[in-house]
Amino acid sequence: MKAPTLLIIDSGVGGLSIAQEVRQLVPNSQYFYVADNAAFPYGILTEEALVRRLLQLIPPLVTKLVPDLVIVACNTASTAALAALREVVTVPVVGVVPAIKPAAISSKSKQIALLATPGTISSPYTDNLIRQFAQGCQVMKLASNALVLQAEKKLQGESINLEDIARELSPLLEKSILIDTLVLGCTHFPLLKGEMAAVLPDSIELMDSGAAIAKRAQQLLPPNTNNLVNEHLNYFFYTKETDIVDKIRPQLKGFGFEELQFLNVEFQQITQKSSAS
Ligand code: DGL
Repeated sequence: MKAPTLLIIDSGVGGLSIAQEVRQLVPNSQYFYVADNAAFPYGILTEEALVRRLLQLIPPLVTKLVPDLVIVACNTASTAALAALREVVTVPVVGVVPAIKPAAISSKSKQIALLATPGTISSPYTDNLIRQFAQGCQVMKLASNALVLQAEKKLQGESINLEDIARELSPLLEKSILIDTLVLGCTHFPLLKGEMAAVLPDSIELMDSGAAIAKRAQQLLPPNTNNLVNEHLNYFFYTKETDIVDKIRPQLKGFGFEELQFLNVEFQQITQKSSAS
């Protein structure tokens, strides 16, 4: 029996927060990570453009790499395209969606906040999650593209200014608000957990989906695979050649990705929702 292979996809480095959790539970597997930097950031694309892009990118990759499992390590992509992807991809597809349910359960004040990309915040899938799992809670929705860019910057080895983080999170700091749980509804955000915790009061718990996704991945793979030996390298693919790739190389090593490779899947940008938030 050979060690399993997993394909993990995000627009950039955010999905590494998921890969890290999955690798802890399923260490002896081969990992293929795709950073679709040609279409980055996903969070400001229209849902239609994003679904089209993911259908262009993922099914041919599954055919080529034959993974045992696909993880769409991006809330924006999952809330927009999970159903469409599952229709065409022949292996199990795990999506990452905001941890609204556990947040609503654990919140004492029943005031929670969701921090996510503009795409995830405006997605009907997200509204549905809130309606289904956060009944009895007040949910503040906060969209940020700037924090996605900050997380990318951090992994390029640049320093992060806490004032910039505080400014983005300032709506959570208003005195009248009793939020005790902040859902990190974008996989880029756990990469900034330390910075966010530094500017937020201790009374706010940060919650992400990483551990739950790792558990789900483990359940979907054959049992006892951790006894197998994986002799293959983990690959980090990117869809646009840029000097950023060299900047993130040292950090990628820390996440277990030593082999970097360009994947030529051109992105035709047709429409954008907005330029920033
Ligand atoms: N990491 C992605 C997410 O979880 C989105 C980042 C982007 O906007 O590209 O939503």
